Amino acid sequence: MEVRERGPIVAVDGPAGAGKSTVARKMAQRLGFLYLDSGAMYRALALKALQHGIDLRDELALAELLASSEITLLGNGQHEPAVWLDGEDVTALLRTPEVNASVSLVAGFRMVREEMVRRQRRLACGGWVVMDGRDIGTYVLPCADLKFYLTASLEARARRRLNDLIAQGFHPELNVLGEEIRNRDVLDASREVGPLRQAEDAIVIDTTDMEVDRVVDMMVENFRQRVS
Ligand code: DC
Repeated sequence: MEVRERGPIVAVDGPAGAGKSTVARKMAQRLGFLYLDSGAMYRALALKALQHGIDLRDELALAELLASSEITLLGNGQHEPAVWLDGEDVTALLRTPEVNASVSLVAGFRMVREEMVRRQRRLACGGWVVMDGRDIGTYVLPCADLKFYLTASLEARARRRLNDLIAQGFHPELNVLGEEIRNRDVLDASREVGPLRQAEDAIVIDTTDMEVDRVVDMMVENFRQRVS
């Protein structure tokens, strides 16, 4: 019998708007695992940089800012996941148009990514986690027991972002959002460090025409068959 030294790890990757955070959170809830949103960590740093007027092209300044920042992800499945930055709940501030527009830049720097990856590995090292992001299955946690790669059409992804923003009181245009997502895909996939890539051993799910719960059912089913 195989003896595991840590609990299971599930990695969920894919482009912006593919539905990763929604399904990863629900999957974690169903399994009773911790949900870790790695994108929220990059968003928290982008938010702090904007608040402090840091030049978003200055890698060293961003790395120094991160070194002095405490980012805490709370997501034990019982409550809505929350993100705390230096002791303050910033969850509601992380998905604004300003942060959306800045985060890819911040996430593109090697020094920033190295420290984020260190922190992400530390958070996941005991297992019993579902972590979502862009490079989780390929780079952050290649040892994950189960990997998913979620995709969806550009239009479906733009519509989801639109609904998110409308719920927050913003009224962006669908085609502008589509363009932003397309640009972000290019940045995320073409950067040198931690690019968005599908792991060879990932299970690919196209969520374009799928209800959230159907996607989660499929993922949990896969988990039960392959891991538990
Ligand atoms: O998943 P999200 O939209 O919240 O991610 C925000 C940004 O952070 C996005 O531009 C991609 C980047 N990101 C990353 O580079 N690596 C990760 N593991 C997670 C997110």
